[in-house]
Amino acid sequence: MQNPFKGSLSIDFYSNQSTIKWVILVVAVIIGGGSIVYTNRLVSELKEGERNNINLWAKAIEFSSSPDVDESALTFISANIITPDNTLPVILVDSASQQVLLSMNVLEDDMTIAEREQELESILEKMQRENEPFPIPVRNTEDGSISEIQYVYYRNSYLLRQLGAYPYIQLSVIGIFAFIAYLAFSYSRNAEQNRVWVGMAKETAHQLGTPLSSLMAWLEYIKTMPEMQGRGDITAELEKDVQRLEMITARFSNIGSLPVLKPENVLQTMNECVDYLKPRVSSKVVFSVEAKSGNLMAKLNKPLFIWVVENIVKNGVDAMSGIGKIDIRLSKNANNEVLVDIADNGKGIKGKAKDVFKPGFTTKKRGWGLGLALAQRIIENYHQGRIFVKSSQADVGTVFRIVLPS
Ligand SMILES: Nc1ncnc2c1ncn2[C@@H]1O[C@H](COP(=O)(O)OP(=O)(O)OP(=O)(O)O)[C@@H](O)[C@H]1O
Ligand SMILES: [Mg+2]
Repeated sequence: MQNPFKGSLSIDFYSNQSTIKWVILVVAVIIGGGSIVYTNRLVSELKEGERNNINLWAKAIEFSSSPDVDESALTFISANIITPDNTLPVILVDSASQQVLLSMNVLEDDMTIAEREQELESILEKMQRENEPFPIPVRNTEDGSISEIQYVYYRNSYLLRQLGAYPYIQLSVIGIFAFIAYLAFSYSRNAEQNRVWVGMAKETAHQLGTPLSSLMAWLEYIKTMPEMQGRGDITAELEKDVQRLEMITARFSNIGSLPVLKPENVLQTMNECVDYLKPRVSSKVVFSVEAKSGNLMAKLNKPLFIWVVENIVKNGVDAMSGIGKIDIRLSKNANNEVLVDIADNGKGIKGKAKDVFKPGFTTKKRGWGLGLALAQRIIENYHQGRIFVKSSQADVGTVFRIVLPS
């Protein structure tokens, strides 16, 4: 049967899905980047304004100490520029002695002298890191020559500092939220997929069960019929088909329930798999099974494991268009896990090796794209193992690896 979703669902679905992901990512980067650039611009404009204010303050101090300023101007400047309720913390430092001459908006009223000294020192350090100070030349009253230079250090307002950090905080909060939402979403999607897989499998096993037991009873009856005596060939063929149906039912009923895992000899199981598969594929496919270490035991559910091997081998046979070899190599790794490598000498996987496990991914006219999705499910969810494409090269072949906990 031809896959009715072909074109509309399988390949197009994956390329569309990844385009959507890219569009979302690009839009998110534009929004995030835009909000950072915009706030940075606001911050630098506000910073400029605050710097101008401090510059004015420094100029006012310089002006007020000049000898030829008159009394009324001094009062005005002192009341309106030097001592108004400015919120910016400023410190005036004598350049020669490094003594703090004046500070505003830095100290709390209830601080002890020691606390004040400590606070002044630490804030001055921050100010030196944050902004260039304004120099104020102090002139001699007699000849107007510069006798010393004082420096005005300042910090930007609390509001401005908060505004600079705001987009980063906001973006991290949104990022964390999006991540949690993504986890919750994919968890619920997985749970939903699980229910569909298990439900479909259970139902299939259930539906197959009734006609199958009836067929078995009929087979026993036919065997005893006088007309069938001497026609063992027919009953043998019928028996094979019934056994095949039984195996299919066993697969579906195992995947629809918590499957029982039993310690099995993997080499023996693979030989059984090959014996089962050989007559079902082209006679021009040569099989070999080789074990690199002895006593390869793993906990398996045989009907499900054979299903996995069947799916991988059939894909390999499809990839070599009927002529070639399937080499199965068994070994153990340092963690005592059993490794099953299934190699074909077919045309190799086109595109990304990870995609082949996605349900619905197929490059075949008559494929459903379910074989490897099912294999992955059986190995990872039911056997707590791993399955992946170990290597694949165009026109050389592909190796699938199954790792089973021992
Ligand atoms: N051994 C292999 N060599 C080359 N390509 C492979 C091999 N195994 C899988 N693929 C690629 O991965 C795709 C998905 O394989 P999968 O078994 O999941 O689905 P399918 O074989 O297309 O359909 P079906 O549901 O009938 O198995 C295949 O269509 C094929 O393109
Ligand atoms: Mg397949």
